[in-house]
Amino acid sequence: MNKMELRFSATLANESLARTAVSAFIAPLNPSLEEIGEIKTMVSEAVSNAIIHGYGFDSAKEVILRCELDQSVLTLVVIDYGKGIENIENAKKPHYSSRPDLERAGMGLTIMETLADSFTIRSVLGMGSKVIIRKEILSEETYEKEGV
Ligand SMILES: Nc1ncnc2c1ncn2[C@@H]1O[C@H](COP(=O)(O)OP(=O)(O)OP(=O)(O)O)[C@@H](O)[C@H]1O
Ligand SMILES: [Mg+2]
Repeated sequence: MNKMELRFSATLANESLARTAVSAFIAPLNPSLEEIGEIKTMVSEAVSNAIIHGYGFDSAKEVILRCELDQSVLTLVVIDYGKGIENIENAKKPHYSSRPDLERAGMGLTIMETLADSFTIRSVLGMGSKVIIRKEILSEETYEKEGV
């Protein structure tokens, strides 16, 4: 078991910090480039949602990113104490965005759900949101052994 937690200001400038930190955290597992790419994408989507929708770009607020590795299973948790989601089922629909004015595609939740082994989002209106992502990392070594 290994874990880490990162807290950072709610500004998009910190999106790459979050991606890079997670990428460094999983490096000892020797993930494939594809796995690194997918994990970074999920981190970006969750973190950008917290900043844009949760906090409305208020950089005085704080996003929390937790990472845990249990054997080869990575758990990512992204938390904001922002405005929350009124209707999660609706928010999850592909192409649904409450901010089309910002030219958001409305695909972040769909992308995370597709790339993750398991994806959970909990939210309370006016209290905030929490995204929990699980993904198993099959190291390159394992790939070779399995002949994939
Ligand atoms: N952390 C959050 N806090 C508040 N609302 C959220 C949060 N995450 C998602 N939402 C709501 O869910 C909607 C869908 O999110 P999703 O990430 O799928 O699309 P998007 O962020 O609008 O566009 P894209 O991610 O493609 O740029 C958002 O438009 C927003 O209304
Ligand atoms: Mg999004």
